[in-house]
Amino acid sequence: MKRVLITGNLHPHALNELASEEVTVDYKPEISRDQLLEIIGDYQVLLTRSGTTVDQHLLDQGRQLEIVARAGVGIANIDLEYATKKGILVMNAPGVNTTSAAELTISLLLAMVRLVPQAQLTLKQGGWDRHLFQGTELAGKTIGLIGLGNVGRRVAQICHGLQMNVTAYDPYLAHEIFESLNVTRCNQLKGEHGLLGNCHILSPHVPLNDETKGLVSQSELEELRPGSWVINTSRGGVVCEQSLIKLLDTNHLAGAAIDTWLHEPTPNPALANHPKVYGTPHIGAFTAEAQRKVGLAIVKQIKKALAGEVVDHPVNIPGMHSDIPNPIRAKMVLCEKLGRLSQQILEFQPSSLTMNFPPSLTPDEKQLLVLAFQKGFLYRVANEFISYANASTKFAALGVTTTYDAATSTTSPPKDVSGITAILTNSQAAQLSLRGIVYDDLHPRLTHLGEFALEVTPNGHFLVFRNQDIPGVVGKVGHFLAQRDINIDSFYLSSHNLQGQAMAMVKIHRCLAKTQLDEMKQFPFIDKLFAVDL
Ligand code: 3PG
Repeated sequence: MKRVLITGNLHPHALNELASEEVTVDYKPEISRDQLLEIIGDYQVLLTRSGTTVDQHLLDQGRQLEIVARAGVGIANIDLEYATKKGILVMNAPGVNTTSAAELTISLLLAMVRLVPQAQLTLKQGGWDRHLFQGTELAGKTIGLIGLGNVGRRVAQICHGLQMNVTAYDPYLAHEIFESLNVTRCNQLKGEHGLLGNCHILSPHVPLNDETKGLVSQSELEELRPGSWVINTSRGGVVCEQSLIKLLDTNHLAGAAIDTWLHEPTPNPALANHPKVYGTPHIGAFTAEAQRKVGLAIVKQIKKALAGEVVDHPVNIPGMHSDIPNPIRAKMVLCEKLGRLSQQILEFQPSSLTMNFPPSLTPDEKQLLVLAFQKGFLYRVANEFISYANASTKFAALGVTTTYDAATSTTSPPKDVSGITAILTNSQAAQLSLRGIVYDDLHPRLTHLGEFALEVTPNGHFLVFRNQDIPGVVGKVGHFLAQRDINIDSFYLSSHNLQGQAMAMVKIHRCLAKTQLDEMKQFPFIDKLFAVDL
């Protein structure tokens, strides 16, 4: 009989559903870390909430662990790489608390613009000064959403019901998705046509990762119109708390509504107690409905996993790399790198991906390589941990269709029997094609970027630029980098004589700062410049 340990609150219906003759369930929502480490060795299943840190030490102590089930969406508390290495299946319950998170966003917004908390406090203290509580109507106002994933989309729908205008910035979504949601697309955050200067209320709905940490900082908040409101129900750290305090103090912002804090459960008191801050203690998912749905969804999956069936939301595929032959593994690395590279140099939102493979590969192998590309593409884009288990679903959610082994278009690089090609296109016929090869079944190489032939080991930090094919480019770029104490590891250059254009990939030993990149873009011979991490 399998033993399940539950270390967070679980809805009673879900607890009932889990109880059966096949499992023993121990419900210990208040267990301490020390107690947990002491007993975890006796369990095959750990069912957690965000409050349990599932790190290497805990996973090592869990000698019999087969499953870590997260009753919720966020999995930042779980060491996924290590769990995968140890062959432990991790799964979560996405999509079922979306409505609750979106509704809390709107609750906070309404409470803030109508000063509901202050008015209630006055009433309870016996006061009645109605003139103090003149609020603002939302109809006709514009909300600017950063991120149009599950929660962002639901917020957009509700705002439409309030007769608000909805604009959003999500550089990774296809145009068609914006159109279907009736949301105005902003291609940039800053500037005349940017999201920030053109909304009354800013509300990010993105996960916390390297790209989104501090995404809304002082300069972004300053671009908001005077008297704007800011909401953060996504994750603490997406909006810089210090900058928020500053801009509230100078009255540039009218108010901020916050459910997710940089430091939980002890948020910065200067922010939490600020008179213009409307705060809640991370209760986005705390509704009876969401708790019940999350609990039932995760219990259903635990039962499936224990019965050896396919689960609905696996976050990893444990042990998947162990029996894959080396030549395929090397191609997986290549495809993942092609995906990463394409995402970092794309200048349009793709609506289709086409991949072509050597005919010697089996259909299963090709499918695996498509997943590897999608996983690489999503590496910096997705709202959550991306693995071979969820890459295809998450990629499709961007509005991009995938085909493979279809006929290539005439502008794609030459076909040879051993290479792998990936072509991203949109409905306006914009196209980015990449091609690579694996030498000796071991060494992945990027061989084509668009029409340019290269031979690049796709590993490390790169500057990728398209330039006019004139003498002196290598020297000027080399000098620029040397002056900033940046070592060049390799300089790959490819010219395309017909159009007088060249493409360069410069491998450097460390990333350039944003200001240095901007300086480099001033070289008149550089047409396009990207910093790429492979
Ligand atoms: C989630 O990620 O699903 C929410 O943040 C809620 O998680 P929790 O209730 O376990 O904190």
